[in-house]
Order: sequence, then structure tokens, then C-alpha cells
Amino acid sequence: MNKKPLKNILVTGGAGFIGSNFIHYLLKTNENCQVVNLDSLTYAGYLENLRSVQNNPNYTFLKQDICDFDALKAVFIDYKIDTVVHFAAESHVDRSIANPGQFIQTNIVGTYNLLEIARSVWSENGGFDGKHFHHVSTDEVYGMLMMGDPAFTETTPYSPNSPYAASKASSDHIVRAYYHTFNLPVTITNCSNNYGPNQYPEKLIPLIILNAVSGKPLPIYGDGLQIRDWLYVEDHCEAILKVIKEGTLGETYNVGGGNQFPNIKIVKQICAFLDKELPTSPFVPHENLITFVKDRPGHDFRYDINFEKIKHELNWQPKFNLNEGLISTVKWYLSNRDWIESVTGKPIFQEWINNNYSDRKVAK
Ligand code: NAD
Ligand code: TYD
Repeated sequence: MNKKPLKNILVTGGAGFIGSNFIHYLLKTNENCQVVNLDSLTYAGYLENLRSVQNNPNYTFLKQDICDFDALKAVFIDYKIDTVVHFAAESHVDRSIANPGQFIQTNIVGTYNLLEIARSVWSENGGFDGKHFHHVSTDEVYGMLMMGDPAFTETTPYSPNSPYAASKASSDHIVRAYYHTFNLPVTITNCSNNYGPNQYPEKLIPLIILNAVSGKPLPIYGDGLQIRDWLYVEDHCEAILKVIKEGTLGETYNVGGGNQFPNIKIVKQICAFLDKELPTSPFVPHENLITFVKDRPGHDFRYDINFEKIKHELNWQPKFNLNEGLISTVKWYLSNRDWIESVTGKPIFQEWINNNYSDRKVAK
């Protein structure tokens, strides 16, 4: 996988879930590149995720907002950025339903800022040769499938349903337009649901693990039969790096785990692992904590992603099966109590839990 040497990489949103895993992955595999992590540290950004690399001479952290055009431009110039890996986003569907405005700012305007700065700074400094802008996106841009519908391919028309998905779809279109109009060297990945270490516990899998451990209800939206495709985060990081190094400019690559299961099955599997890991817990069997609650408005029924293109063109496929990935994730949350207490102890976390769940109550 060593085709293109990486030099000065700007990782946006590197303090979040996937971005922090990506920085660890990058520093493990490419010792000679300089990594600049630019993150505004919203509720979802947590520098503890990067504690073990904070003194690495190849790593720099900058607390900055991708909506601040002038400051962002200075970073491109000062750090001679030649590669951008763009993760920074508002990423939670439920928050986009509660408060869509910040999704428009960060996901759309922030992405435009990065593209426009890359275009102007790179044009004025040697042109686009050797430069690369990689945009990290989601399968949710394709909308939802019913049972029997074929999986999303890279040519499936966009049909986003939530404000989150619509803001990501919009950013994908702008990235694509910068390639077609200006020849900006871009690639895009559209990936399914990730899980693994460092995921903020507003998302299904970490929320279920943490609630189960402390004997709280496990909230299942609607009937729990909605289907997602699940990918272990390290596999996603590997796919992104492969696309940056070997992908064709201007192309989109779908990334998936090949693990499509209803939410209720994932939750029951987590409960079964916890029963084994914590046999003396008063909450065994953890499954008894499952509580069906009011559904998410506009809840997409099913996602399924066809990742044949990246498999055949770039020889990438997931290494972790769901069982291994879930066990390792459960173990990570069980052995990182400090991380959990620090994240969940913040008022902003409790506020979200109260806002999102207090009115949901039991649905059946
Ligand atoms: P996350 O919410 O855990 O992290 C987002 C990070 O971006 C945080 O560190 C936050 O502080 C930072 N950020 C937010 N707004 C910013 C701004 N205006 N300026 C600078 N930094 C800002 O998200 P994640 O789950 O790690 O997702 C990362 C990317 O991957 C997103 O673009 C998301 O759309 C995409 N994605 C996520 C998944 C998934 O399952 N989590 C799946 C496919 C694609
Ligand atoms: P989530 O982790 O929020 O990811 P996304 O909405 O991006 O797919 O949710 C995954 C699935 O789990 C989704 O179908 C919604 C469902 N879900 C619940 O049933 N209960 C919850 O408390 C949460 C957060 C999600």
C-alpha cells in the first residue's frame, strides 16, 4: 500500500471517534508524515483520545473551527499542507433532528471553506500535483432501502432523509464539483455505521454498553427491526488510507462491513457478551434492560452497502468480523472507566440524554 508518500497531512475532526482512530492508525503505519489535527473540540471532540501521541514529534494539535476561513487558510500555509483528510462534522442524526443549524454550518459551509482554501493555496504554491483532498462521508446520503432492495452502489442516486444525511450529501456534491470544475484532486468514501473504541456514547453501541453496565434501560427506537451495516473503525481507517494512497482521483468508494443486522439483534448480542464478561453483575441477564421507546422521526429502515468497487480496485476488505469487533469494543469500554466517567460526567452529555430520552418513554 505504499504508492504515494504522505507528507504534511491535515486531519480535520481528529479528536472525534473515527478521526482519532485514524491518527493512531496513520502514526503507526507512516512514521515519516507530519499530522496536523485541526479540531474545534465540540462536545464530540476529546483530546484524551490522543493522549498517547500528544508528544509525538510528528503530531500537532490545533484547536480551530473549520468555519473560520482566515484561520484555516493560515494553517494550510504555515504547515505546508499537501493532504487533507476531512472528518470534522456534526455526526449524530438525532441531534440533527433536534437542532439542524450547526449541521449546515459545519458540514456544508466548513467543507466548502476547506475546498476553497485548498484550491487557492495549492494553486498559488506549486499547483495540484502531489496534493490530495479526501472527504469522509456516509452511506446515509443514499437514503433508505426496503427489504429486497439491492445494496447501495457508488451510482445509487442520492436521497438523504435526515438533516444530517442531507448536509453530508450536500458536502459530497460540493467536493465532487470541485473536482469537475477545478480539477481539485479529491476522493470520497461513503461508509456504513462504524463502531469501536473512542465512540461518543450518544451512538447506539456505546450507549447500550454503558447503560447496560450501570443497569439503565436500553432504549430501542420503534420495534428495533431497522437494519444497519456495521464496520469496525480500524477497517474504515485502513480503507481511507488505501483510497488516499491508491485511489483514482475524482472517484467515490463505498466502504462497508458486510454485517447487516437489525438493531435489536446487535443489542442482544452486546447483552450476551456482557453476561459473560460480568457474570456477577446484578443486571444479568442484561437483555432484561431492553426498553422499546418512541421511534426517531423519519427513521431510515435499512442500509446495505455494496463495496465491490474498493474490494476489486484497491484490494480492500474488512478484516474484523462482527463478533470479534463487538467483543473488542465491549472490552474496551469495560477497561476504560476513566474515559467513560470523564465523558459522561460532563453536563453536556447528561443534557443530551435528558433532551433525547426523557420524552420518549416506553412505546410498547
Ligand atoms: P464525531 O462526532 O465522533 O467527531 C467529529 C469531530 O469533529 C469532533 O472531534 C468534533 O470536535 C469535530 N468538529 C465538529 N465540528 C467542527 C468544526 N466546525 N470545526 C472543527 N472540528 C469540528 O464523528 P465521527 O463518528 O468520528 O465521524 C467522523 C466523520 O465520519 C464524519 O464526517 C461523519 O459524517 C463520517 N462518518 C461517520 C460514521 C459513523 O458511523 N460514525 C460512518 C460514516 C461516515
Ligand atoms: P446511531 O448509532 O445513532 O447511528 P445512525 O443513526 O447514524 O445509523 O443509530 C444506529 C441505529 O440504532 C439507528 O437505527 C437508530 C437506532 N438507535 C436506537 O434504537 N436507540 C438509540 O438510543 C440510538 C442512539 C439509536
